[in-house]
Amino acid sequence: MPHKVFVSRYLPPKALDRLRATAEVDYHDGEEGLTKSELIGRLTGADGLVCHITDTVDEEVLSASPKLRVISNVAVGYNNIDLAAARRHNVVVTNTPDVLTETTADFAWTLMMATARRVVEADRFLRAGRWTTWDYNLLLGTDVYGATLGIVGFGRIGRAMARRALGFQMRVLYHDVHRADATDERELNATHAELETVLRESDFVTLHTLLNPGSRHLIGADALKLMKPTAYLINAARGPIVDESALADALAHGRLAGAGLDVFEDEPKVHPGLLALENVVLVPHIASASHATRMNMAMLAVNNCLAVLDGQPALTPV
Ligand code: GLV
Repeated sequence: MPHKVFVSRYLPPKALDRLRATAEVDYHDGEEGLTKSELIGRLTGADGLVCHITDTVDEEVLSASPKLRVISNVAVGYNNIDLAAARRHNVVVTNTPDVLTETTADFAWTLMMATARRVVEADRFLRAGRWTTWDYNLLLGTDVYGATLGIVGFGRIGRAMARRALGFQMRVLYHDVHRADATDERELNATHAELETVLRESDFVTLHTLLNPGSRHLIGADALKLMKPTAYLINAARGPIVDESALADALAHGRLAGAGLDVFEDEPKVHPGLLALENVVLVPHIASASHATRMNMAMLAVNNCLAVLDGQPALTPV
C-alpha cells in the first residue's frame, strides 16, 4: 500500500513530483487555506500531512486522524501545531530550519534599512508627485552603520543578523534564555544581556524568537516604554510576540521612531492604527520568500515526510 499524504496548500511541482513518486497524494491547491473541518475531512486515511503555517493542527485534528504519522510543516516556526497533542498521538512533527536562515535574515535586515532610511515612505512621496525640488532636509533618516543592534532570540536567524551587523560595525546586544558559548559571542561580537538592557540600549531591536506562551506579547506597552524614542522595532518572527495596539500607540505618540513588520497578530489583518502611520513598513509575511528558499523549504518538507513514512528518522524534527 503506498503512503497517503495530504498536501494542504500550494507546493512547487518539483516537490509534488518527488512526493508522488512514492506516495498517493491528495492536493489542495486552492488560494485559500482550509477550515479545520475541511482539513479533518481531507486527512481521512492519510498517514502524512504536508502543511503550512495557516493550518491549525490541534487535538481535535489529531484525534480525528488516527492514521497520521507525520506532520511536515513548510516553515521553521511551528506555533500552528500543538506539539503536546502530536506527542500524545505519536505523530512526528518536522519543520524547515537552516534552509531559510539567510533569506529571512536578509529580509529582516532589509526591513531595518528600509525603516531607518524611510525607503517606502520616500517611494510613496515621489509617486504622489510631491517631489518638486532637491531639499536638504527631505526625508532625513537614521544611520544603521555603527548603531547598536538588539537581537531578541539568538538562534539561527538571530545569529545571522549578528553576522550581518559585523559588516556594519554595530555594537550587538542579544537576549536569549540560552546564552551562546564564548567562542560564538566573540566571533559574532555579541554581548548577552537581560531583555530590559537590550530594549533600553538598542537603536534597533529585531525579534527572532519562537512564538510560545512565554513570548506572546513579550513586546507590550511596558517593553516599548523601555526603548529609546529614537529606536526602531523589527519583527520578522511572529506577530503575536508584539502587542500591536501598544506598538501603534507608541509609534503614533513619538515614543518610538519606527517599525518594520513582516508578521502580524491576526494575519492577514493589520491593526488599523499601524496602517495609518508613515513610520512603519508593513509587508505580508514574506521574509523567507525567495525563489530558491521557498523551493528548498518545500523539498525539505517533502523529504521529512517521506523519511518518517519510510521508517527513517526525520531530517529536521521539531
Ligand atoms: C515562516 O514564517 C516560517 O516560520 O518559516
